[in-house]
Parts: sequence; structure tokens; C-alpha cells
Amino acid sequence: MEEMDYENRMMSAEYLPEDDGDNPLRPRTLAEYIGQEKVKSNLSVFIDAAKLRGEPLDHVLLYGPPGLGKTTLSAIIATELGVNFRITSGPALERPGDLAALLTNLEQGDVLFIDEIHRLPRTVEEILYPAMEDFAIDIINGKGQGAASIHLPLPKFTLIGATTRAGQLSAPLRDRFGVVCRLEMYTPEELAKIVRRSADILQIPCDHDGSLEIASRSRGTPRIANRLLKRVRDFAQIMNNGVITDEAARAALDRMEVDELGLDMVDRRMLQAMIRHYNGGPVGLDTLAAMIGEESVTIEDVYEPYLMQLGFIGRTPRGRVVLPAAYAHLGIPTPGEADRNQQLTLDV
Ligand code: ADE
Repeated sequence: MEEMDYENRMMSAEYLPEDDGDNPLRPRTLAEYIGQEKVKSNLSVFIDAAKLRGEPLDHVLLYGPPGLGKTTLSAIIATELGVNFRITSGPALERPGDLAALLTNLEQGDVLFIDEIHRLPRTVEEILYPAMEDFAIDIINGKGQGAASIHLPLPKFTLIGATTRAGQLSAPLRDRFGVVCRLEMYTPEELAKIVRRSADILQIPCDHDGSLEIASRSRGTPRIANRLLKRVRDFAQIMNNGVITDEAARAALDRMEVDELGLDMVDRRMLQAMIRHYNGGPVGLDTLAAMIGEESVTIEDVYEPYLMQLGFIGRTPRGRVVLPAAYAHLGIPTPGEADRNQQLTLDV
């Protein structure tokens, strides 16, 4: 099989350094945040009610594919509540002491955000339970006979957990979140609004159709839309007086080999390899992972959600299968069509 270029993948929804930090594109308030209308309107009620009662907001679990704005939304929740926003992640919390240090430094009402909360080590998860439920932790001091347990009360805080895979959370952890929100992929119209907002902030001239062209190739993901906007700007500056029109966007994205549906070379080659080498599947997840040189979890979290949303691949107990819509998009006859065509040729 050909070597594939997985580095610098434009269409990855994973974090890049450019996405981080003082990103001027990040909305700061719920009013500025585009899309996720149901989640937003519910959260705004919960936030207002908590503020009215003078209580911290109940713990919130946000789940859904990467790049949909879980961190952004969490920071907004803290801003709307008027409290500090502390940020960490499941893999960063290696020992119970790491979490204890964070928790004991919180102020009343603060938001503690734990990204990738499904990757929290079990020993850390266990001290999170009483912290969430009773706002206290028990720390064991010393070893053996002389060991003493210290009961440490904590300020009342709000935990926001984010995960791409709610199914991997243990039931006791999941049950301790009072608010559970699933973030959905964005529609092209919502993404186009995000692209126009970003273009305004970055002072990039981009017309309505140009924004829609970028949006429709961004696989439902704002992080990808904003990244494509910056790259399309480069092409537009060199080739179109800097103005992003639909024509300029189309030319730029074609050159980057991002097709009309937002599939890149990796997606297309994965589908083509499943068709050519495995007759369209079923192909086991591990085989698929080896095929494109990625980990199985990356396939499940990053590649699959969009391909499944398009109805391009399906999951069966024996592995993944390529569905007819993908054959049509790639211009490859389905096995049934190929048989029929063969038959027609023989008949003539
Ligand atoms: N930038 C990234 N995500 C956004 C969103 N949901 N609304 C506005 N701007 C964004």
C-alpha cells in the first residue's frame, strides 16, 4: 500500500498550538458562541438559576467529537458565572496528590475543567468522587501503623468534564454530573457564520459564498473551519487580491486536496483501501488503524464520526463497512453495480 502523509493533516480536529492560548477567535460569552443552540439555552438557564441562588453550578459533563468547542464553552461558563477558570486534563493528573493540589487551591464557586476526563487514572478518579459529592477529600498521611487519614474540606466548586467518549466513563463518575450535554456537529450555515465572524476579527475580506464554501468542507467542526480560513486566505492573497470568494475558496481547497465534503487524502485512501483490499469490509478496527498508521482510538474519535455522519461507513460486530454513499462519492461502482455492469457487458 502507498505511504500516506499523516503529518500536518489539515483536516485533523486535534489541537494544534495555533488553536491554543489567547486565540482571538474564541468567543468569550454565550451570546458570541454560535451553534449548539439547545445546549446553550439549557446552560444559560442553569447558569442564571445558580447565580440567582448564589450557589455554584452543578457539575457539567460535555461530550462529543473533538474540535466542537468543549473547552471554549467551559471557559464561557466560568465567565458567565463570574468565577475563575482552572484547566487540567485526565492524563496530566497522574497521582491523587496532583488533583488534591488543584482542588485545595480553588476558590468558592470556581470552575475546574478536566479535559479528556475518560483518561483519569483510577486512583485519581476515586478521590474525585467525594470531592464532587461532599466537597471534601480524604488524604492518607504516612504509611503503615502511623498512617492517618486527614479529612480536608474544599470550597464548593463546579467540575466541568470533557470527553470524546462518554461511554468510557465509569458509571459512578458519570452519575455525579448533574448536567450532561452532548455537543453536535455544526451545520454548514452555522460554520459559515463562524467563518465570517473569524474573518471579521482577522480582517480577512470574505464574502457570503466564500464562507459557505469553506464551511461545507470543514466536516462540521469550527476548529477545522478556522484553520481552513487561514490557509484559504494565503491562497487568496497570492491569487485573488486577498478576497475570499466561493471561487477563490474552491480553488484553494482543491489545491489542498480537501474535497467538496471535507474529506482529505487520508479519508479517501482509507475508504479506497477498504474497498480495494477488503472488498468494502467488514474490516476490523485494528486492521484499519494499521492501514493508515493511526491508533484505533484516533480512528474512533477523529476519523469515524464524520464518515459515519455522512453515511460513508457503518459499524458491524465484525468491523467497519464502506456504505454505498461512499462508493458514489469516490466514483467507484459498488460490488452489486460492478456485477450488473459485467452482466450487461456480457449480454451485448
Ligand atoms: N470559534 C470556534 N467555535 C466557535 C463558536 N461555536 N462560535 C463562535 N466562534 C467560534
